[in-house]
Amino acid sequence: MLGFTHRFVPGDAGAGRVLLLLHGTGGDENDLLPLGQALDPQAALLSPRGKVLERGMPRFFRRLAEGVFDLEDLEARAHELADFVTAAAAHYRFDPDRVCAVGFSNGANIAGALLLLEPGRLAEAILFSPMVPLVPEPTPDLGRTPVFIGAGRSDPIVPAAETERLAELLRRCGAVVTLHWTDAGHAVEAGEVAAARSWLERLARPKGA
Ligand code: MLT
Repeated sequence: MLGFTHRFVPGDAGAGRVLLLLHGTGGDENDLLPLGQALDPQAALLSPRGKVLERGMPRFFRRLAEGVFDLEDLEARAHELADFVTAAAAHYRFDPDRVCAVGFSNGANIAGALLLLEPGRLAEAILFSPMVPLVPEPTPDLGRTPVFIGAGRSDPIVPAAETERLAELLRRCGAVVTLHWTDAGHAVEAGEVAAARSWLERLARPKGA
């Protein structure tokens, strides 16, 4: 199982893109497959299950309290996840340079950590209801990596200022951030999926087309 219980769904021949699907607390490797299909029906899907259990609920890293992360564990888990992606690329024969992370909540937070701790690993990232996972020193160079952030103005877990802080951090590192606000709470909402899908389609289009 390459280090993580996971699902892999091959993409259309020649499509190339692989969506790395990262579920929220209490989810599993099946949760985000429909979301991945909605975002890019041609892409391959790689969907691991988080290995940390919190009262039986899978997560991608330990937390000490709601929104208070165990940073040592987070760093180790982000590198472990990067190694899984590399191993999966060799095993399933996909291009490791075409991986787009798609995460919700805890999954968005490990995706953010991957971006910041393993610059260049992800071709792009879609983060739904993310927080600032950590602030690395010195800040990495993200070399214009495209990042889509979907956030709800009524999110009881992630205040708007936290979302703005994440967008600002990623921009400071050189990422090209698209911030999409909804009126929703801590959830992935249909309008947000549609916006992320057209954002991905625009990225795929050759320049000038
Ligand atoms: C969650 O419930 O997953 C949190 O809001 C985010 C996290 O702990 O990473």
